[in-house]
Amino acid sequence: MSKVTIKKIVEKKNKVPIACLTAYSKNTAVIADKYCDIILVGDSLGMVLYGMKNTRDVKIDTMILHAKTVKKFAKKSLVVFDMPYKTYTNKIIAYKNARRVMKLTKCDAIKLEGGKKIVNIIKHLVKKGIPVIGHIGLLPQTSTNFKVKGKNNMQQKKIIEDSIEVSNSGVFAIIIECVVEKLAKIITRNVSIPTIGIGASKYCDGQILVTDDMLGLSDLSPKFVRKYSNLNKVIEKCVKNYVQDVKMRRFPSTKNVYK
Ligand code: KIV
Repeated sequence: MSKVTIKKIVEKKNKVPIACLTAYSKNTAVIADKYCDIILVGDSLGMVLYGMKNTRDVKIDTMILHAKTVKKFAKKSLVVFDMPYKTYTNKIIAYKNARRVMKLTKCDAIKLEGGKKIVNIIKHLVKKGIPVIGHIGLLPQTSTNFKVKGKNNMQQKKIIEDSIEVSNSGVFAIIIECVVEKLAKIITRNVSIPTIGIGASKYCDGQILVTDDMLGLSDLSPKFVRKYSNLNKVIEKCVKNYVQDVKMRRFPSTKNVYK
């Protein structure tokens, strides 16, 4: 089990698909680490774990706590820290926060959402030695419209420009979220670094999903998610059975008591 490095991720472009999932805690990190190339400690945790209505209220210290745990238990995968909203509003703030994150969590890289507007910030961080993954297309931290992107020429032009500028800024990969297939294909062909899609077609160099969504644990089920289980139902059945056992005095049984 050799450690996944940034170099190995970059070398996978046009060769082997890159498999990525999110993790926020020990149990998921341990399992994801066995199979994934990249584990993202995503700010989606705000909605998934804390029931927030979007990712904008996620605090950096909450992310640090989760990322420390994930990094501690993910021994092989590349662990990426998703910088929360307003933690990279300019070069100085971005570097101060990113340096603290890297020091405290020991994560391998950070992820920033945004196109052309944040290129100077990315360049600054990369120059200072912080590995960065970009994120273009649908941007949950700033978007007010959670619809697929790239349906019209204006959006396509903007996202292609974003992809070129972000990929030339020193990032080692770009996440493309929720764009039409044709656009993901053009971007993946045009940029020299790997593209990782979420709702962005099979033409990307890799895929990422929010783990709770693909396990059927969250109540979100956009079209681009394939549900590999319905864990909500499984958990509900277990909880119901446990409560019935307690009420009927079937639990604990002789097997569960100390003599
Ligand atoms: O926060 C997150 O989990 C993400 C993924 C959806 C890419 O940014």
